[in-house]
Amino acid sequence: MSEMDGKASSLAVVILAAGKGVRMKSNLPKVLHRLCGLTLLERALRAGAALKPKEYLIVIGAGEDLVRAEIERIASNPLFRGVEIKPVLQAEQLGTGHAVQVALPYLTKSADELAILPGDAPLLTGETLKASLGMLRDEKAQLVLLSTIAGNPSGFGRVLRGKTGEVTAVVEHRDCTKEQLLINEINSAIYVGKREYVERALSQALNTDNAQREYYLTDIVGWGVGRGEKISAFVVQDPEEVLGANSREELSQLEARRRAQINAQLMRDGVTLEDPAATYVDEDVEVEADCFIGAGTRLYGKTKLAAGVIIEGDTLIRASAIGAGSVVKLGCYLTDSTVGADCQVGPFAHLRPASVLHDQVHVGNFVETKKSELKRGAKANHLSYLGDSTIGEKVNIGAGTITCNYDGYFKHQTVIGDRAFIGSNANLVAPVNVGAGAIVGAGSTITADVPADALAIERAEQHVKPGWAAKKRSELEAKKKGASS
Ligand code: UD1
Ligand code: CA
Repeated sequence: MSEMDGKASSLAVVILAAGKGVRMKSNLPKVLHRLCGLTLLERALRAGAALKPKEYLIVIGAGEDLVRAEIERIASNPLFRGVEIKPVLQAEQLGTGHAVQVALPYLTKSADELAILPGDAPLLTGETLKASLGMLRDEKAQLVLLSTIAGNPSGFGRVLRGKTGEVTAVVEHRDCTKEQLLINEINSAIYVGKREYVERALSQALNTDNAQREYYLTDIVGWGVGRGEKISAFVVQDPEEVLGANSREELSQLEARRRAQINAQLMRDGVTLEDPAATYVDEDVEVEADCFIGAGTRLYGKTKLAAGVIIEGDTLIRASAIGAGSVVKLGCYLTDSTVGADCQVGPFAHLRPASVLHDQVHVGNFVETKKSELKRGAKANHLSYLGDSTIGEKVNIGAGTITCNYDGYFKHQTVIGDRAFIGSNANLVAPVNVGAGAIVGAGSTITADVPADALAIERAEQHVKPGWAAKKRSELEAKKKGASS
């Protein structure tokens, strides 16, 4: 590491994220759109992290407040601990060159290398950035621009090269001559460079003498070459890695690409996917070996499946953890919940936020839980609502049982002790406690606490009238005959 001004040298990442992204046709600024669960902005920061920057400068403008909030959220990720992330406002978007110019005064002294990234190239990898930085250092270049060979270069800046193949300039599509339009090597708008060079070039090279009347960052390429500075291009082999998402259609294509990569990695890690084309797994999901993921499964956010979990399919799981060996049967919806080991959930169960199932719990069809803890071995197999409740070990919740947790104003708790048995179609009007080992008779509406090991039953007395039904039937049949004759 070299020393400058008595401080260790360092690298800073500048992310250009001020644009609105007009072609997204969205109220949300483009960099806040998501790809496999992460905003485009977070993806840019994560790619940059491979260069171990000391700081990020993020040029913001459109949707300023929303973008600032997202920057704060991203900065709280342990991945960015000890790294400065500074938003810099570019009030008017006068072009990519202007954007970098606005950011540079906020750089700390120690930064002597820069990476400049657009906020909307979501598939850029850290490896590519590292290789480009290696090129900058090995070739002792002032600037390395990342280029790629595009199948359809239309709309992009073209990379011009001289007789010996050396880079000479970048020309924007709208400024190209007919011959230049035939070039298919394009500028990705991703660069690594010496800070001193970028500052010097920006202060001298920029003008708005072009078709779009903007300050083009690309002008620092031709400007330097003309002054004998060493400027190189790192040609990225796979164009999709550096392509921007400018429209929702492009975003969905890039997302499909990333989704396929995530799924391929899962399979390499020992996970069976019934149909990878119909499996949607976010970036930060963790899945252990020998899990089975059925078609139509969506695993979102920080979801984690422990070893051997079976997700039958057509299920959405968001920010939830599923313990080893558990089975989530077809058609379930889980959010912010925890499921222990060897549980059975579904088919058609709904675990709403803060549902905590300990090991060996069964939650069956048409059961909804919310802010509820079901302790080891508890079962609610059919047609129940369990909200704001604590349900003890090995409790059996009969079909149709409802915790009446809401009085129209406040939510109240239901607490059921270990091994209690709640008969079918019981209403437990909260707040209420059912003691350990107690039995609640089927059909009861329980409004007062039930002591341990007691029976609580709340129904009208049953009347039996022998022969009444048969007599009624013959009366009615005689009446019907009379009416039809
Ligand atoms: C840019 C490049 C072009 C390259 C293409 C690759 C220039 C002049 N052109 O064109 O050579 O082929 O990317 O996708 O650099 N931004 C700001 N402030 C501004 C303008 C832009 O922050 O004033 C941000 C945008 O939000 C975006 C990025 O910079 O994230 C790129 O800007 P964009 O307008 O998309 O540039 P292109 O015209 O695509
Ligand atoms: Ca673009």
